[in-house]
Amino acid sequence: MSTMKPFAFILAVSFLFQVYRDALGSGNLTQVTTIPAAAPSKAPIRNGTEALQNMGIFSASSFQCPRRNFTHIHSKEGLKPFDHVFIFMMENSGNDVILGNENMPFINLLIQHFGFAAEYYGITHTSLPNYIALTSGSNWWSHNDSTKQIFDHTCIADKLEEKGLGWKNYAQSIPYAGYKGSSSYPQNDSFVWLQEHVPFLFYPQIFQDPVRAANIPPLEELEQDLYSCNVPEYVFISPDICHDMHGGSDVCPAVTEYPNTPKKLAYCYNTKNTSKNCVNINNLWKAGDEFLREWIPKIVNSPSWTGNSVIIVTWDEANYNEELDVFTEGGPDTAYIYSTNFSFADHSFLIDGYYGGGKVPLIVISRENPYHIVTYGKYNHYNLLKSIEASYGLDYLGYTSDDRQVKVLHEFFV
Ligand SMILES: *[C@@H]1O[C@H](CO)[C@@H](O)[C@H](O)[C@H]1NC(C)=O
Ligand SMILES: *[C@@H]1O[C@H](CO)[C@@H](O)[C@H](O)[C@H]1NC(C)=O
Ligand SMILES: *[C@@H]1O[C@H](CO)[C@@H](O)[C@H](O)[C@H]1NC(C)=O
Ligand SMILES: *[C@@H]1O[C@H](CO)[C@@H](O)[C@H](O)[C@H]1NC(C)=O
Ligand SMILES: *[C@@H]1O[C@H](CO)[C@@H](O)[C@H](O)[C@H]1NC(C)=O
Ligand SMILES: *[C@@H]1O[C@H](CO)[C@@H](O)[C@H](O)[C@H]1NC(C)=O
Ligand SMILES: *[C@@H]1O[C@H](CO)[C@@H](O)[C@H](O)[C@H]1NC(C)=O
Repeated sequence: MSTMKPFAFILAVSFLFQVYRDALGSGNLTQVTTIPAAAPSKAPIRNGTEALQNMGIFSASSFQCPRRNFTHIHSKEGLKPFDHVFIFMMENSGNDVILGNENMPFINLLIQHFGFAAEYYGITHTSLPNYIALTSGSNWWSHNDSTKQIFDHTCIADKLEEKGLGWKNYAQSIPYAGYKGSSSYPQNDSFVWLQEHVPFLFYPQIFQDPVRAANIPPLEELEQDLYSCNVPEYVFISPDICHDMHGGSDVCPAVTEYPNTPKKLAYCYNTKNTSKNCVNINNLWKAGDEFLREWIPKIVNSPSWTGNSVIIVTWDEANYNEELDVFTEGGPDTAYIYSTNFSFADHSFLIDGYYGGGKVPLIVISRENPYHIVTYGKYNHYNLLKSIEASYGLDYLGYTSDDRQVKVLHEFFV
């Protein structure tokens, strides 16, 4: 909260009731439980299943898929194996833009109902190295989106397979599974999905092996897998750029511009501004919110939502280049950024080539764990990766092996 601009905070508070009333209809604001990072409480108010029911997006499936036998999995750090972990990776929006934004009622409801890490950061700028960090434990000194990059490093898919566990990276609008040509539709120059938002296309041991590359299918396959009990343990979901808040495709309806002009967001945060730019950005935000409103119920109402399943919603990085944004912290390779504030205004976010990734929401929807916890512990994508590794008893990749600096997200997985 300390870096939130006062006017953004006021907007966030004043929209709280409005957002809740509009989206839920019941007018009942759930008591917010704040748990300091230092002393996580073990007293759940209720569980995630009840909270989903409360929101009206859950009706238990009459049939549940058989649960995996995890006897051979030796979880670490006191965690349990996740039946399934679903990771939704959204794009380029920080807490300052998301909290209280009236274009994002569903996301704000999730933040109020479920686990929320209020001090969670991307690793760097641009997109791709954030995705790589979250899946291999380092950005490997990359700070660009060039799709020529090859990350010849062990990634979590390798470690999951070693334990006989499944993974898939579902990619909305990818032409076909494992497609790694250009970022465009194969037949023309339009593009609606971006390779750099699909991390498992960058590990050579995967993209060069047709069997493993088949684990990067179009998003439609997720729905089939959920209902046919074939969904793997680890699920990484890459929405296309019409639905991940990135924008910039001529194919997205009503989102024809990349919203990247400094100061623009400050005007557009209020939906009453009907300038063309603001309407486009509002539509982009709404499309992301509606994407989650469509897919999260699909998951929790499916027979695959069993046992210790969790859904994670996060953003790769905050809205770089925007006045509302303050990139304050990065990953363990961005030591400078831990101690000083950087802002777009003076370009001081770039010190010796290092960036932070900005403060972004981390939302945790857990089926069995306490449903609403807010933590102010300082975390980033490495803590999330480590939590998943620990749950499945995997070796720690890259920076996640740094036990002193990188802890698991204990608050959410008691
Ligand atoms: C709001 O929720 C609380 C806790 O579930 C409950 O005790 C209270 O009666 C509810 N209030 C209304 C107006 O529904
Ligand atoms: C799970 O597998 C172990 C052997 O790996 C077996 O001993 C145990 O009975 C199995 N549990 C169930 C519920 O099938
Ligand atoms: C992108 O980063 C890689 C390191 O992963 C570097 O070798 C390359 O020169 C960079 N490309 C651009 C265009 O900055
Ligand atoms: C490219 O192909 C896609 C899919 O068929 C289509 O939606 C899009 O309009 C095409 N773009 C152009 C410029 O023709
Ligand atoms: C609406 O947004 C535009 C930028 O798209 C800005 O120039 C204009 O001043 C804004 N109007 C208000 C009333 O904020
Ligand atoms: C960073 O910014 C916050 C909020 O503006 C301020 O409270 C804090 O003192 C700043 N930290 C440093 C090291 O300048
Ligand atoms: C959630 O809590 C309710 C009420 O205490 C209980 O009936 C239900 O079994 C719990 N569900 C899970 C998944 O723990």
